[in-house]
Amino acid sequence: MGKPRSVCTAPGKIILLGEHSVVFGKPAVALAIDRYMTCTVSESDDFLLNGHRASLKKNPHLSRIMDVHGLKGLAVNTDSTVPPSSGLGSSAALSVSFSGAVRTLLGLDASPESMARDGFDAEYYSQGRASPIDSSVSAQGGGVGINCPAELCEPLWRVERDGRVWDVSSVKTPEMTLVVGNTGIKAATGPLVEKVRKYKERNRFASDIVDEMGSLAEAGLRHMSRGDLVSLGACMTQNHKLLSILGVSCPELNKLVKAALPHSFGAKLTGSGGGGSMVALTDSPGAVCDAIRKRGGEPHVVTAGVAGASARFL
Ligand code: PMV
Repeated sequence: MGKPRSVCTAPGKIILLGEHSVVFGKPAVALAIDRYMTCTVSESDDFLLNGHRASLKKNPHLSRIMDVHGLKGLAVNTDSTVPPSSGLGSSAALSVSFSGAVRTLLGLDASPESMARDGFDAEYYSQGRASPIDSSVSAQGGGVGINCPAELCEPLWRVERDGRVWDVSSVKTPEMTLVVGNTGIKAATGPLVEKVRKYKERNRFASDIVDEMGSLAEAGLRHMSRGDLVSLGACMTQNHKLLSILGVSCPELNKLVKAALPHSFGAKLTGSGGGGSMVALTDSPGAVCDAIRKRGGEPHVVTAGVAGASARFL
């Protein structure tokens, strides 16, 4: 018999409304998508990543979770269809799937909440700051809301850090067709989150924009709960404008959003921005894909609201 091995698969996500402002505790909505990270782990004295000795320093998400669980070494294999640094939650999917695999191997609770908490902690540690939206939606699946009005959601758990409070809930999602357009430009989340923090700290105008994005996320959630995709799309497009004003968009993202809009209810960047991906809500996915491709982006029709992370022994 070989060593025990455990595996966990966790989905990536799109943020429908409220990235960046959610870091400050404003409302936001994210959906799990059918792009997945799988982590397989087994005991080892050394830290081995995909068959090679690897640096713990260069893998802060993994090393943080290993530290939290008192592990000095581990053999880890990863397999992913979530493009890295593209605004689709690859680091959260990595942290959540790694947490699920580690917890299973150690015989610990591998519930969505425990994986989401480990994932958030790893993101916070690696990025300097973070909200729990990515890790929560990856662990829980479906649609996840943060600080949403009680009548529109089912409460899940509360996360607190540095005086901020995020009430995580599950939200119902109607049938929606979403097209993701990847600019192919990789952008790290940490520096963009830091840029917004500085801007907001020094500038009252930026602070108002962050508040406005929170109100927009709440309004969009109300439209979504009534299945009003036209109004939800309008909120997404408005959210993109506010994110651009905050300085987290880029010409390539703006180009793809503009190309998608004539065939969409709405479109916006998704995730931290600065490159990465945009998402369009549409009933003409073919036309949106063509428009994105023509502008140099890589389009994907994604299935949103998929199941969250699940772990097991192999
Ligand atoms: O780009 P991603 O997939 O890492 O998403 C980041 C989302 C932010 O709101 C910008 C940061 C966060 O932790 O919520």
